[in-house]
This record gives sequence, C-alpha cells and structure tokens, in this order.
Amino acid sequence: MSQNLACVVLCAGKGTRMKSDLPKVLHPLMGKPLCSYPVEVAFSLGASQVVAVVGHGADAVTAALTAAFPGKPLSFALQAQQRGTGDAVAQAKHALAGHDGPVLILYGDVPLLTRGTLEKLLAAYHSAKGLLALLSIHLEDPTGYGRLVHEEGKLVGIVEQKDATPRQREIKEVNAGIYVADSKFLFEAVANLKPQNAQGELYLTDIVKAAARLGTVTVVSAKAEETAGINDKAQLAEAAKVMRQRINASHMANGVTMDDPSTTFIEEGVTIGPDTVIGPMVSIGSGCVIGSNVRIAQGCVLKKSTVQDGAELKPYSVLEEAAVGPQCIIGPFARLRPGTELAQGVHIGNFVETKKARIGEGTKANHLAYLGDTDIGKATNVGAGTITCNYDGFKKHVTTIGDNVFIGSDTQLVAPVKVGDGAIIGAGATITENVPAQSLSLSRAPQVTKDGWAERRRKILSAKK
Ligand code: UD1
Ligand code: CA
Repeated sequence: MSQNLACVVLCAGKGTRMKSDLPKVLHPLMGKPLCSYPVEVAFSLGASQVVAVVGHGADAVTAALTAAFPGKPLSFALQAQQRGTGDAVAQAKHALAGHDGPVLILYGDVPLLTRGTLEKLLAAYHSAKGLLALLSIHLEDPTGYGRLVHEEGKLVGIVEQKDATPRQREIKEVNAGIYVADSKFLFEAVANLKPQNAQGELYLTDIVKAAARLGTVTVVSAKAEETAGINDKAQLAEAAKVMRQRINASHMANGVTMDDPSTTFIEEGVTIGPDTVIGPMVSIGSGCVIGSNVRIAQGCVLKKSTVQDGAELKPYSVLEEAAVGPQCIIGPFARLRPGTELAQGVHIGNFVETKKARIGEGTKANHLAYLGDTDIGKATNVGAGTITCNYDGFKKHVTTIGDNVFIGSDTQLVAPVKVGDGAIIGAGATITENVPAQSLSLSRAPQVTKDGWAERRRKILSAKK
C-alpha cells in the first residue's frame, strides 16, 4: 500500500520488571521472541527497510532477529545508553540515510498489533498529507501512559504521566506509542529534542508538539488489547493468551476441529490440514506439519514433527523431531524421539520409546519397548518389552530387522546385530549374533519343573516356626 515505507522498531530497553537475565524483547511468545512480531508485521506491510534499535543485550537481540528474518532488509542501530524513546529513534537516522518517505515506529515489546490496524494508520497518514499520525487508545485507567492534550479541538501535544498536571492526568485518551512520520521531519525533530522533563529523558512524544505547530497531527483510535506493551511476566502471559486465541481461530477457520480451544497450545508457524481433530490440553510447537483427518487426543505434545493424513495420536503421546506416516496409530503414552521415521500404518503402542528408528509399513510395536538406532522392515511384529541394546557404554550401535519378522516378548537385541526377513525369535531371548532370514532363534535356559516341590518347601518352613 505505502510506497517506500521504512520502519524503526525500538528494542533497546532493559525490561527491569521482567526480573530476568534475558533481554525483555527476547522473551518468547508462542514460540517466537517478542520483538519478532513487530518486525514481521512491518515486513507484511511491505516495508522496504526495518531498523531495530538495540541496546540491552544488543548482541543477543541482533542474533535472534537476524536468524528469524534471513535475507530480509533488516538492519540494526545501537543505542548504547537508554536516554529515552526520542534518542532511540535518532539512532536509526544513519541506517535510513537514503530513505525518503514515511517511517513507521513500532516497539519491540508490543507484539499484538495487527496489520489491519497499521494499515488504517498509514491510510490516515497518507490522506491527511501531514507530517505525523499516531495511534491512540481509550483507557478507563490511563495511569502510566502519555495523555493526548487537545486545545480547541486540536491535538497540541502529549504529556507523560510524570509531567502531567492533575487535570491532564484525568485524560483517558492516551498515546499508544505507535507513529508514522515523514522521515525528514522525524529525524530533524528528534535531533532537536531536549531532556526537559521529570525523567530527564529525550521523549519521542515531544515530536507531536513540533508536528502540531507545523500542521495537523492525525490520530487513529486503536484497541487497547493490540497496543499493550509487555512489561512483566503477567502481561506476557496475557499476551500469550490473546495470541493463542488468534492462532487457534485461524486453524479453526481452516477446518481444524478443537475440542477445547482454551486449552489448546499451538505456536506460530504450524500447518494443520482440514478435518483434523485436536483434543484438550494438546501442545504443538513451531515447525510442526500435521495433515488432514489426523486425530490428536488429549495431552499430546508435539515438537518439530510431522504427522501425515489419517494418523491417530492417542492420549499423552510425546513427539520430538519425529515423522509419522499416514494412518499410523500412536500411543497412548508413546514417546517418539528425534530421528523416528514411521512409514504408513505403523502402530506404536503404550510405553514404547523410539529414537533414530526407521520403521517400515504396517510394523507393530504395541507394548513397552525401546527401539533406538534401528532400522525395521515391513509387517514385523515387535513383542512386548523388546529392547534394542544400542549402547555398550562407549558407543551407539545399530540393530537391523527385516520384513515379516516376529520378535517374541522380552527380547533383548544386543547391537550391532541383524535379524533377517521372516525370522522368528522366541520370547525372552538375548540376541547377540545375527539371525538369518526365515530361521528360529531361542536363547533362554531350558525350563526345569519339580513336581510337588513348592508344597514340600512350605511344610518344612512352617515346621521351623
Ligand atoms: C511510552 C510513551 C508514552 C506512551 C507509552 C505507550 C514516551 C516518552 N512515552 O512511554 O507516551 O503512552 O510509551 O506504551 O515515548 N526504548 C528504547 N530506548 C530508550 C527508551 C525506550 O529502545 O532509551 C524502548 C523500550 O525498550 C520500549 C519502548 O521504547 O520498547 C517504550 O519505552 P518505555 O520506556 O516503555 O516508554 P513508556 O514509559 O512506556
Ligand atoms: Ca512501556
């Protein structure tokens, strides 16, 4: 919409009230750092350049944003000392030296602003042809915010809480802190700021007075929910709740069924196909890809995993960097660890743990097994309690199992070891040598049974009492 829009995102603040070693703007909100949201919305508006002003934790903030926006026109300006919001914007001047057009100013700790609201702000700015437009909000309790001061119906300036008179403190229309300004005006105005206020800071809000002297300042009213800044952990949790609702609503609009969206945690950056049903208390992390007609029952946790069409995850299954093929049945209480790759129709049942396990079509491991560093063929049955002993105390080794194999319950496969196609292993075996295809392997001690022994034993013991 707006040609040649640039954006400055203020990310230098310390965030003392977070009581954390992590810079405030790096706290994660539904899987992504707070400051990535304003940067993302700026790019979605078509910004040709985004400058993040960094200060506290500058290196960490720079690294996180660089990683989040590869190949995008994102640059950084350092504000070594936090001398106020006006000083912060002034640091972006050099990075935007060649820019001629509007500059949008966003805050790194205001993650919920939508593209729609900013489009309204930009449209109002363009149609007014003025030097500055800003977002305001109405608050029943305006404490802490800058108040919009009008004279004869015209906005003449913003006065901060600490500088306001008792009369001004009653004003309920407050500054959201989001502006769009002509770049030439903006950088001249911030260069002329003076720290003449209660906090001894260079207030960005003072540019409103300067713009009002030169013309009209356009005010666009926004929803308080969108412009809320995150200052502490309680506000972070509130914002996460709003973000979760938005994410869930968008999946439901795409045809996903949620039994209880209020307890469904889906991070940003998840794809889910239509007619998939998600039970209560399910968590799905960034980067997961879920097909259609998948059922994910109560309490499942998925991280960086893919689940193909028609698969079913029964309650409390945990998947991490796992790939589940179509029509697989997983759980309840299954744990699929990194490197698990299941072909079509695999069954992984309760209390089965897999890691670096490639498992072929239709194979079943339904009860209490550990399958690690293993390659298993098709239509094989892995009995209850089977363990691939993949670690010898020094190194990991691989277990290879063919197609149509039957592994009896409570078998230990001491890797490295191979079991050929069609082989049968009797229950309770400890397999240390390769099992050829189509053979039977047994490795248990022959059974000894002594008639009447137990009864005689009890008699001897009770006679001694
Ligand atoms: C600011 C506005 C106030 C508005 C409120 C809305 C000023 C003077 N006041 O107040 O009118 O109602 O936002 O939330 O602008 N930052 C820097 N460098 C600095 C100072 C701040 O990068 O030197 C960043 C912070 O990290 C934060 C943002 O700018 O992301 C806002 O700063 P903050 O100190 O929270 O401003 P407020 O006092 O809330
Ligand atoms: Ca603030």
